[in-house]
Amino acid sequence: MSEPLTLPIDARTRYCAVYGHPVSHSASPAMQNAGIAALGLNWRYLAFDVRPEELGKAIVGAKAMNFIGLNLTVPHKLLALDMVDSLDDSAKLWGAVNTVRFEARDSNGNWQAVGELAETPAEVRSRGFNTDADAITRAVREDLGLELAGKKVLVLGAGGAGRTAALKLAADGVAELFLVNRTREKAEAVAQEIRRLYPRVKLVLDYPSGPVDLVLNATSLGLKEGDPLPLAERDFSLEAAAAVFDMIYRPAETPLLKRAKAAGCRTANGLGMLLHQGARALDLWTGKRAPLEPMRRALTQNVYG
Ligand code: ATR
Repeated sequence: MSEPLTLPIDARTRYCAVYGHPVSHSASPAMQNAGIAALGLNWRYLAFDVRPEELGKAIVGAKAMNFIGLNLTVPHKLLALDMVDSLDDSAKLWGAVNTVRFEARDSNGNWQAVGELAETPAEVRSRGFNTDADAITRAVREDLGLELAGKKVLVLGAGGAGRTAALKLAADGVAELFLVNRTREKAEAVAQEIRRLYPRVKLVLDYPSGPVDLVLNATSLGLKEGDPLPLAERDFSLEAAAAVFDMIYRPAETPLLKRAKAAGCRTANGLGMLLHQGARALDLWTGKRAPLEPMRRALTQNVYG
């Protein structure tokens, strides 16, 4: 299928960007520019290597230069909580900002995305959102055909990604959550948060003794060649899992996913999460539904060649 033409840059071109440190590996420009082109917008999405100590200035600078919005990646997502003018509930709930939308007041005095306004008034605010958590549920639903409510899930890892995943699964109404992490205290801290916010979820800080609907890997094991599996197979056999989701997307097939396929599980890697967090950011900036298929194609091409 032929992709839509990108409009040439001119004096009316508007900008959005991802800030990270490092950022050169980011697939977001390829994915977002494909979405922008499909929508026929005269926008461009750029990538900037921003040092954490410069993040506040870089956000204010983008606002001054009439940017539409920003994505933030490692190590900026927590820092930005204190650096934007206002926080959406999603950023408050998940305790991190991965998307900034610049907003101005419309003719009725309501704050609206500057991307939806023809002219940007003098008073603009930066508003922080989190689109990462919802992307987990969307990717699991689309790529594995799994609705999480009432399900039994084993989550591996309790770092930043594992905490968000476990809390999101609890918010989605899973019945039982099994949390396993190398450092047990971190899994305990996540469990405490879940007990407080979602007391109905049955929590076990150990491997399941019976079958589960989903195993979700949120550890970094599998990123590097030669990494061991993120789970102890003597404690839990993948034969007992209906589906396995690995948040890692590079490599496309981690040793865990390979083992899971051999055990007959449905499998998916984390590319769908990357797609959906980006698509939701584009929704927020444009006020329209982001075109998923061109974004997915550009993302896949960029990541896997
Ligand atoms: P992220 O923000 O991507 O979640 P992180 O907070 O550093 O990154 O978390 C990395 C996760 O991978 C943690 O669950 C970590 O376990 P610890 O909490 O015990 O550090 C897990 N992890 C990393 N290397 C590991 C290893 N060699 N064996 C087991 N788990 C590992």
